[in-house]
Amino acid sequence: MRLTGHKVLITGAGTGMGLEAARQLTERGNRVVMVARDAERLRREADRLDGAVAFPCDISDAEQVDALVATIEDEHPDLDVVLLNAAVTHTYRLFGDEDMLAHAEAEMRTNYLSAVRLIGALVPVLRRQEAPALVVTTSGVAFAPDISNPTYSATKAALHSLVQAVRLQLERDGSRIEVSEFMAPLVDSPFSAGVVSDQKMPAATAVAELLAGLERGELELHVGITADVFQALRVSSDTAVRAVNAATGG
Ligand SMILES: NC(=O)c1ccc[n+]([C@@H]2O[C@H](COP(=O)([O-])OP(=O)(O)OC[C@H]3O[C@@H](n4cnc5c(N)ncnc54)[C@H](OP(=O)(O)O)[C@@H]3O)[C@@H](O)[C@H]2O)c1
Repeated sequence: MRLTGHKVLITGAGTGMGLEAARQLTERGNRVVMVARDAERLRREADRLDGAVAFPCDISDAEQVDALVATIEDEHPDLDVVLLNAAVTHTYRLFGDEDMLAHAEAEMRTNYLSAVRLIGALVPVLRRQEAPALVVTTSGVAFAPDISNPTYSATKAALHSLVQAVRLQLERDGSRIEVSEFMAPLVDSPFSAGVVSDQKMPAATAVAELLAGLERGELELHVGITADVFQALRVSSDTAVRAVNAATGG
């Protein structure tokens, strides 16, 4: 796909890769609807970009997502690209003092269940467009868990599975929607603040690779160390788990 002249919804656009995607996409002549919870920060960032608007929304809250979808239908019926990128994580050690279940519930709500809800609500909008695309940010940890972010890793594995099912179903429905998965590497952003590693890629580089991959028509983008994890997986899943945790210090 040519990444110019689109209207793109980006979740998690207040910081990190989502914000960087908003920057790089507006620079290429796309219009962007930026979504995140911190309204003040989101509006400040959107104001700096030509062609961006902010829509503060907690994607784990059904009523707020309904309001977002209603606004898309009313004000942005030409939305043709959706980048589901928001996520939360808890960096912690299994069997320490942390509440695994509370972490897992919060991570599943934001990282997986909100994607189920948003895909269900936004595919009908995308179906009406000429060259629509759905892009979902997962991670190399969808292939093999990072044990310092154990329950988060499982949400990305679930999301990876969902993306594959959505792609095949849409293909069988004869849909034009291109479904791509951005399997991001370890990136320097607020998200990975708790991870000590010298392998963090700058967010701008990761997003430039994402956009280049989308323009090449790649459906599953293995950026940076995710490509190494994918290769390790071909040896064995245990090799891949050890490769991930060597990179993250997990
Ligand atoms: N950084 C890494 O090493 C790494 C590696 C692989 C994959 N990833 C993935 O890359 C994506 C982007 O992460 P990042 O590194 O750019 O981290 P980030 O800077 O922390 O960005 C995450 C964004 O999600 C938003 N967000 C969180 N919960 C939300 C909710 N309930 N509703 C709406 N927005 C919400 C946050 O803003 P508010 O707090 O304002 O809501 C923030 O803007 C995530 O899917 C992450 O899993 C990251």
